[in-house]
Amino acid sequence: MVSRVIPVETFDLVIFGGTGDLARRKILPGLFRRFLSGQMPPDSRIIGAARSDLDDAGYRNMIAEAIAEFGGVESKDSKGLAAFMGCLHYVPIDATGDTGWARLFDLTREGVIQAFYFSVAPSLFGALAERLHTHKIADDRSRIVVEKPFGRDLESAKALNDTLAAHFKETQIYRIDHYLGKETVQNLMAVRFGNVLFEPLWNNHYVDHIQITVAETVGVGGRGSYYDKSGAMRDMVQNHLMQLLCLIAMEPPAMFGADAVRDEKLKVIRALQPVDYHHIVRGQYDATDTEPSYREDAENPKSFTESFVAMKVNIANWRWAGVPFYLRTGKKLKARSSEIAVVFQDLGHSIFKGDEARHRNILSIRLQPNEGMDLQVTIKEPGPGGMRLIDVPLDMTFADALGPDAEEVPDAYERLIMDVIRGDQTLFMRGDEVEAAWAWTDPLIEGWERRNDVPKLYETGSAGPEDAMMLMHRDGRRWRELKG
Ligand code: BG6
Repeated sequence: MVSRVIPVETFDLVIFGGTGDLARRKILPGLFRRFLSGQMPPDSRIIGAARSDLDDAGYRNMIAEAIAEFGGVESKDSKGLAAFMGCLHYVPIDATGDTGWARLFDLTREGVIQAFYFSVAPSLFGALAERLHTHKIADDRSRIVVEKPFGRDLESAKALNDTLAAHFKETQIYRIDHYLGKETVQNLMAVRFGNVLFEPLWNNHYVDHIQITVAETVGVGGRGSYYDKSGAMRDMVQNHLMQLLCLIAMEPPAMFGADAVRDEKLKVIRALQPVDYHHIVRGQYDATDTEPSYREDAENPKSFTESFVAMKVNIANWRWAGVPFYLRTGKKLKARSSEIAVVFQDLGHSIFKGDEARHRNILSIRLQPNEGMDLQVTIKEPGPGGMRLIDVPLDMTFADALGPDAEEVPDAYERLIMDVIRGDQTLFMRGDEVEAAWAWTDPLIEGWERRNDVPKLYETGSAGPEDAMMLMHRDGRRWRELKG
């Protein structure tokens, strides 16, 4: 297959927090892959800026080690690595003082695209934005990239939006939700809006319910102090699951463009009904003989923070009235498995006598692992014996369907950073979207805090607490099996 990689324009990317975990694990290895693919022009500059007292050579060593550890097979390309190292620079910087800014001014060039990645605590956003302007480093063409957590409630998210808006226009602000950079998430839009097949069925006349699952096998070990103040609701539901929900439920935008798509997503969030607390299950993983409990991982023996949430959500609009959306996410579960399943309604009438089984079509969109889709259809079981019906998946695992020559799928971060350089905001959250998501989430969190809700314990390696199963069973439905 001929490569279809289109190089972006030459850029200067400044990474504040350039020695941090995200920079070493994701941002730099991702940029290295874009460099090797030919998408990142070799005269671009990546400038790490952080507190550590390093020089360019020290930073290059640090990043070469990070690429060796997190970069995958490409890290073996020593010639490519040496060339990539030539793009790297480092500036020791004081976000709230004067050190380093003059050097940063010298290193960033006029006339090339400039992006500033704020991979630092949100409390520093204001100071960084202000200094970028007073030192005349940023201008109206600059882009800034910010990460989640974008606030911890509506009030703090608004304050962050105001801080950024004081220095940058909305069209310059790229709020990352890395789920939007995942291949299958974008495929969701391609499938919905690029085929005539599904859209007529995509509503309450044909859909029984929709399940969105993001299950992880990892615990919170190592990030316990952050996570314990956040919990699954803030860490996963308010952002990642909400984005998936928006993409699956939104109306077709008039065109695939940043504001057209984001306007439609915003309408979904605003149409979300408040969730009755009987329709939310919170869980916390328990210890086994060999594995620590959540409380041990979080080093908080009295923690009531949830590492699992399941809930039933309704969208109050014509398309979805009466169709429940079941969301669940959790850590230390049975399998790493993220999937959206659109479960269609039962046949109104079966012409096949003696066939008692319930047959339904299910479109399953797998985010990870084995990215792909399958559509469960009912067919005749092959062979003699009359009309016996079975359900089989029409499977489209992308890796199989596209064959060994398919271009390698870029990691979410790689794609999103290249979108920043291209100036495409479609896969980034707009300020009003983030605020609307918090406005819906806040009362749910306040509700359980007021009730002193204690999360239900669940066994490590299970599918979550029993109550989550009951949430579905009460409605005569069941969760899809968690398969890794
Ligand atoms: C992050 C969360 O945003 O997403 C983590 O903070 C979570 O808690 C991670 O583990 C999951 O991302 P992925 O891409 O591994 O599904």
